Amino acid sequence: MAPAPSSTYSAITLNINGEKHQLTADHRTTLLDALRERLDLTGTKKGCDQGQCGACTVLIDGRRAVSCLQLAVAAEGREITTIEGVAEGERLHPVQQAFLAFDGYQCGYCTPGQICSAVAVIEEHAAGWPSAVTDDVRPEAGPPPLTADEIRERMSGNLCRCGAYVSIVQAVARAAAVQAESDEVTEAVA
Ligand code: FES
Ligand code: FES
Repeated sequence: MAPAPSSTYSAITLNINGEKHQLTADHRTTLLDALRERLDLTGTKKGCDQGQCGACTVLIDGRRAVSCLQLAVAAEGREITTIEGVAEGERLHPVQQAFLAFDGYQCGYCTPGQICSAVAVIEEHAAGWPSAVTDDVRPEAGPPPLTADEIRERMSGNLCRCGAYVSIVQAVARAAAVQAESDEVTEAVA
């Protein structure tokens, strides 16, 4: 039975994948543990539990975050997206489709975090955010070409112990191209 709210526990509501989840959480509970241990959303994985591997990556208000370093109580009121919420119903997200097409995984343990990161990376790149390897960082230069080096740098917070990096880079590049084509079609129709 969940403990009653007290000086160390609070009743919170987490908005995850468009659904509200109410729980009473120890103030020290990480978002990762709340997802996995309290809400049975086990798609998000625990690797290092100290912010170094990216296995626990989720999106918070559309930006990637390692959920092992977020307190659940601090995530109240934010829009949280986990790997369970990336697809649109039965239709896989282009990043998920690309990971399947390019075998962007081996054991699959890092894959939910890789996919959540890639979803945000593609949006960050399209919005013109530079990375540490971007040559021309002037705002008017626009998004740099999404080269393999750009993808490696932008995905460098997500480690893969199986070493599936070659396929992961190919998958992210394909998903970004598909997304760009779809955005162009949407703009042309509008
Ligand atoms: S489990 Fe969170 S970064 Fe490794
Ligand atoms: S696919 Fe096994 S850790 Fe990445």
